[in-house]
Amino acid sequence: MKVLVVGPGGREHALCWAIARSPRCHELFCAPGNAGIAGVAKCVAVGAEDVDGLVRFATETKIDLVVVGPEAPLVAGLVDSLERAGIRAFGPSARAARLEGSKGFMKDLCERHGIPTAAFGRFDEPEAAKEFIRRKGAPIVVKADGLAAGKGVILCRNVNEAYAAIDHLMTERAFGAAGDEVVIEEFLRGEEASFFALVDGKRAVPLVSAQDHKAAYDGDEGPNTGGMGAYTPAPIVTKEMAATVMENIITPMIDGMAAEGAPYKGVLYAGLMIEDGVPKLLEVNVRFGDPECQPLMVRLKSDLLEALLACAEGRLDSVEMKWFDDAALTVVMASQGYPGRYEKGSEIRGLDAAEQVDDVIVFHAGTRESKGQILADGGRVLGVTARAPTVAEAQKRAYEAIDRIDWPQGFCRRDIGWRAIDR
Ligand code: AMP
Ligand code: GLY
Repeated sequence: MKVLVVGPGGREHALCWAIARSPRCHELFCAPGNAGIAGVAKCVAVGAEDVDGLVRFATETKIDLVVVGPEAPLVAGLVDSLERAGIRAFGPSARAARLEGSKGFMKDLCERHGIPTAAFGRFDEPEAAKEFIRRKGAPIVVKADGLAAGKGVILCRNVNEAYAAIDHLMTERAFGAAGDEVVIEEFLRGEEASFFALVDGKRAVPLVSAQDHKAAYDGDEGPNTGGMGAYTPAPIVTKEMAATVMENIITPMIDGMAAEGAPYKGVLYAGLMIEDGVPKLLEVNVRFGDPECQPLMVRLKSDLLEALLACAEGRLDSVEMKWFDDAALTVVMASQGYPGRYEKGSEIRGLDAAEQVDDVIVFHAGTRESKGQILADGGRVLGVTARAPTVAEAQKRAYEAIDRIDWPQGFCRRDIGWRAIDR
């Protein structure tokens, strides 16, 4: 088979790495890819959001399966366009991708189908939004309805912060049309976990559990990022918890989408808040989490391509996902300054030495190659990933590998996995 993976980051490197191991994969392409992905796939210079360019490339190259990494092309209808051109794709249609593309749509769906989530209101007018905040009090959470590159959620400690959030999103239009409507919701307490399931329109198969660290600095302090590290398994997601999440959240969501004429296909990522053993849905993403995808892929024992294909073809009952008993952990190395301003173009050395540590793989999240050198080319740059019998051992190996990487312009957290290790 010829496979095309769409996306530029660490998630896509991990997906390419796993797909390349499948005996059914004869040729692997990635658009646009990065310097690390170039080691396992042919990188093509088509942007991940260039829907027409991607359809053209997939048609001309006779791609058998397109695997879409990021949310933006899914929300923009890439899978619909590919299917119209007769090309199989892994990922939801634009209508199903509204689960991530419109927070209000997701919350209303939860309400219609009895899925536990934070109490909320939807507003397209700032004065009404502020009146709701006045009535509810703080802490309270203000969210842009549409996609805002992970920056559209504002946790407000008091009502003045919440009013300012409304001004920022709705009046100043910090994220353009994404903030023309907002969701305002109850502030939930507890521990977060990332729950993933493969879905074929009707059936869902859960993946093993994972957790990420969103804050930029040690001790989960500092500004929120896309994720500074992740690990699997997440001890809070016991077997019983996973069964509860499937029964109360994932299954009603998939049944609800099918019943409403927008069957969901692809990977469903439920962001959970768990308090006193009760999981509530914080957010839905219509793609693999990044960095969570990286440790998940190194724990996967069975054939990823087989499973993705079964999803795309609506026959998930024909595959079984098998996992290594080992844990896995990824530490993200980012450019100094991230998630704020940072510089690109510094040289990274020592990657080969890092990968000599047993069971370590360095996934590239934002790199490019120039004259034989690997250069930093983004905010999150590397995902140093280790597999080992326990999360603690995987953490030790990942940091041993990181200490061999010579990149003074980068930084990482030194405590990824602490929650699992402390337990
Ligand atoms: P999201 O962009 O929806 O993933 O939200 C980003 C982060 O904001 C989540 O990972 C949570 O840490 C936090 N968050 C979102 N909604 C709530 C909520 N209702 N209560 C508390 N924290 C929240
Ligand atoms: N790691 C969180 C996300 O991918 O949204």
